[in-house]
Amino acid sequence: MSFGAPHRHFARTDSTNTRARELAAAGAPAGTVVTAAEQTAGRGRQGRVWTAPAGKALLYSAIVRPLDERHLMLPLAVPLAVCAAAEELRPGIECGVKWPNDVLVESRKLAGVLIEARPQDGWAVVGVGLNLTVSPEEFPPDLRTRAVSIFDPGLGDRGKSRRSLPAVAQTGLLPIPFAAASVLSSHLAQWVEADQETVLDAWRQRDALRGREVAWEGGSGVADGIDDRGYLLVLTPGGDRVALGAGEVHLSRA
Ligand code: BTN
Repeated sequence: MSFGAPHRHFARTDSTNTRARELAAAGAPAGTVVTAAEQTAGRGRQGRVWTAPAGKALLYSAIVRPLDERHLMLPLAVPLAVCAAAEELRPGIECGVKWPNDVLVESRKLAGVLIEARPQDGWAVVGVGLNLTVSPEEFPPDLRTRAVSIFDPGLGDRGKSRRSLPAVAQTGLLPIPFAAASVLSSHLAQWVEADQETVLDAWRQRDALRGREVAWEGGSGVADGIDDRGYLLVLTPGGDRVALGAGEVHLSRA
């Protein structure tokens, strides 16, 4: 499956996921991409809002259809695609994944993923919000120390010169969000088709939560990787190993 044709871009819309869902319901083809410079009602996971200053984040939604067995891994595969895209856009950074589907760099959130699936209709919308040029003071105060942008001058290149331009700055006439959309589309094409073992292996290599204290509505413990379904494994203080599904739990910082 390739992504980006057709591509609908909005200067301003409520939510690219909402636009893409409408298009999917109306029969738009697999790989249709919707982007926006600005969202007025961007959605995050678990009912949260997602905000970004106009033109400073990649706001991207794509239609995946038809769904089959491999797509059970979509919640893990999409953050992996975002990691690969981010590392191509900004050589020198190393991305990690934080279960269930955040992308981190240097322990700060670079991107979030919101997947809205309609298995009964055979499609899913994959939504990605990737901070590109949002400066620290433009993040909401509660996120300021926990969020980061890919083109933050202080990121990456540890021990190396910071003089080289990010790859995306060399892509000619494309404005940064369009270049970023095209890089993400090419990595998504690879990752949505990846088999389960490839996805699980890659996730385990990038797992930024492993060994960290986590808490959820039902308890707390230490994150211990993921099982073969993509559930989070947690070692509890009592010595149990529990598996948590993304739909059931909401992690908080322990
Ligand atoms: C999260 O971290 O909670 C997920 C955030 C997902 C935000 C993106 S921005 C593009 C797409 N449209 C939306 O309304 N949400 C997703």
